Amino acid sequence: MSASPTYQIRDCLSLDDFAACINLQREVWQFSDLDITPLRSFVITRNSGGFTLGAFAESDGSLLGFAHALAAFDERRQPFFYSHMLAVSPQLQNSGIGVELKFAQRRRALDRGVPLMVWTFDPLQSRNAYLNIIKLGAVVRKYKVNYYGNQSTSALHRGLDTDRLLAEWWVASSRVGTVAEATGKVETPTAVIASVEVPFDIEQIKARSLDEARTWQLKIRAEFEQHLAAGLYCADFVRGNVETPSRYLFFQDEGNP
Ligand SMILES: CC(C)(COP(=O)(O)OP(=O)(O)OC[C@H]1O[C@@H](n2cnc3c(N)ncnc32)[C@H](O)[C@@H]1OP(=O)(O)O)[C@@H](O)C(=O)NCCC(=O)NCCS
Repeated sequence: MSASPTYQIRDCLSLDDFAACINLQREVWQFSDLDITPLRSFVITRNSGGFTLGAFAESDGSLLGFAHALAAFDERRQPFFYSHMLAVSPQLQNSGIGVELKFAQRRRALDRGVPLMVWTFDPLQSRNAYLNIIKLGAVVRKYKVNYYGNQSTSALHRGLDTDRLLAEWWVASSRVGTVAEATGKVETPTAVIASVEVPFDIEQIKARSLDEARTWQLKIRAEFEQHLAAGLYCADFVRGNVETPSRYLFFQDEGNP
């Protein structure tokens, strides 16, 4: 874990704050301008019930990370937040800022009485899975094949379909409360029924062979689709290491938050 400077989490409010979010998108995803969420989208989000939280360095006020959330309604007109983009400056990743930004999002959702936040993440990214399922207590019930199509310009996406898992974060659940208040580890429902392996470091595989990465993607896609179709959901994750893949764990889905 790299040491992070002291920082404060607060709402991004000014145009300068949003411009800093744009710079950080460039740094983190190396997007071309077409894929950048532009300044006017941040302004619109803020004026339509959504919010952007930034982690600002106490020393010089620079932006170290941000989490952006849109206000949304489901088909039964129930409100939820759709969190789109969580980013931490590359030099400061793995130092806890990402988790702190998510817990600040949770507090905001609880304050506003919104029970659910969702977001998508790449099933090939072990770190994101560990962060979402273990450190935050999210669960997964949906697999989206090639969600954004093949047009992404991000260095993190190049050469592969943009498959995504949909994380559901039931912010008031005891499962999420337990990890947010650090009173225990993620609560797992009954017995593990199935598991899906994922490389510990997909970036290393992508660097040596895109074909190999693609094979992993297709395998993970097929296995996820099979388990979800069988009425299972993913609610636990085992973090691997350089020699052993990580694993998603599946349980009977009884609709638990
Ligand atoms: C994803 C991201 C926002 C997380 O923020 P962060 O500040 O780096 O995350 P944290 O330090 O709070 O937590 C990361 C955890 O994953 C762990 N981790 C690192 N590599 C891992 C791996 N290969 N497999 C499993 N876990 C891993 C870290 O050790 C840490 O856990 P720990 O605190 O228990 O040691 C940040 O890394 C980032 O900006 N990544 C690029 C953009 C991205 O993928 N955004 C999310 C999707 S939109």
